[in-house]
Amino acid sequence: MTTVRSLPAATAVTESLSVPQFSVISGAQVQAALRGRETQVMELVETIYRLHGDGESVNPPSYFLRFPDRPSSRIIALPASIGGQVRVDGLKWISSFPGNVAAGVPRASAVLILNDHDTGYPFACLESSIVSATRTAASAALAADRLSRGRPRPRRVGFLGVGLIARYIHTFLNGTGWSFDEIGVHDLSADSAAGFRGYLEQSGGGGDITVYDTAEELIRSSDLVVLATVAAEPHVTDPSWFDHHPVVLHVSLRDLAPEILLTATNIVDDVEHCQKANTSTHLAEQNTGSRDFLDGTLNDVIAGRVTVPADRTVVFSPFGLGVLDLAVGKFVYDEIVRSGELKVIDDFFHERHRYRPAASSHDRAERGHRRQRSAARRVRGRSTGLRPMR
Ligand SMILES: NC(=O)c1ccc[n+]([C@@H]2O[C@H](COP(=O)([O-])OP(=O)(O)OC[C@H]3O[C@@H](n4cnc5c(N)ncnc54)[C@H](O)[C@@H]3O)[C@@H](O)[C@H]2O)c1
Repeated sequence: MTTVRSLPAATAVTESLSVPQFSVISGAQVQAALRGRETQVMELVETIYRLHGDGESVNPPSYFLRFPDRPSSRIIALPASIGGQVRVDGLKWISSFPGNVAAGVPRASAVLILNDHDTGYPFACLESSIVSATRTAASAALAADRLSRGRPRPRRVGFLGVGLIARYIHTFLNGTGWSFDEIGVHDLSADSAAGFRGYLEQSGGGGDITVYDTAEELIRSSDLVVLATVAAEPHVTDPSWFDHHPVVLHVSLRDLAPEILLTATNIVDDVEHCQKANTSTHLAEQNTGSRDFLDGTLNDVIAGRVTVPADRTVVFSPFGLGVLDLAVGKFVYDEIVRSGELKVIDDFFHERHRYRPAASSHDRAERGHRRQRSAARRVRGRSTGLRPMR
């Protein structure tokens, strides 16, 4: 492995069309590249939503790999391509194994592959649970801002389900200018609630913290509600809990009963993506036989095509788009190139020419020995006055 301290081949490739170098980017590097960049990443996510809305992306349906012997687990493939100025293709491959949590191991793990726009060659593999949590939190913070612009800015936030994603969303809200008088917490697991409370106290974000025993108390006490559970089907079913018309970030997608969505303004990231896999919006479509309850995408709100009324609950349901992972991953890659810390895997691609067979390591060693022998003969030849033999 070589640490490259100047701009790597991936950029040069677009000019010369040769095989790029392949690099591996660790979670520690990803985290360092993203630390303190909340506003920048949120703006990047907004740009990507706009590109996606303008048709400058390819984002096919995610593929869910499920296992008959491990029904609660899954691995999802999210292929995507971004055009415009960004120009990168790739794939996020993300596992969700909820059983990990009992052993103190994070539920989700992931890698992200970035492919070169011109040759198609993969040029980087990034640890991607952090990229994934970051783009999810950036999108949630963007939605919180955009969906609350027509009403008093929420001062009471409530987190329902407080694992890694809730922590990242709080960090992003904090890092993009939000502050709260009250922070509510509710989780089925007392350990998770206590762990999140500890994180909040250390984060320095301020606000009085209350751990609620029920989801109802939490929701009734919050103007901004963050849902980040791992519930597989709706467990919040009473529309009257939302009589105060909060902004709801429904990041976990399956907590709310369709009746609640039918009383709310519904904003999604991408309609086709959200209307599958038994999300709450998918269930609402199945129940009503139409998508009329969907008001538009976050990009529609940003572009002014959809106005969010202040006197109605607004629910943001983001399916999570592969284009966001790609954009954040490319941002990280560029930062690491700039810092001179890119770790290139030497000779990762072996067959680099169509008709010139790749040398085996044995061939390369043999060539090396021949070069040494011939150098030695040249030295001997010089010293004896004879021409070296070829
Ligand atoms: N939409 C997106 O783009 C996107 C992206 C990433 C993750 N997610 C989703 O976010 C959710 C949270 O992910 P995470 O990594 O933080 O998970 P996690 O396992 O770390 O935490 C989930 C927490 O929810 C709690 N919980 C489960 N059911 C609950 C219930 N009914 N009421 C209250 N608490 C409950 C668990 O005890 C746990 O503490 C997952 O559903 C994940 O799929 C969505």
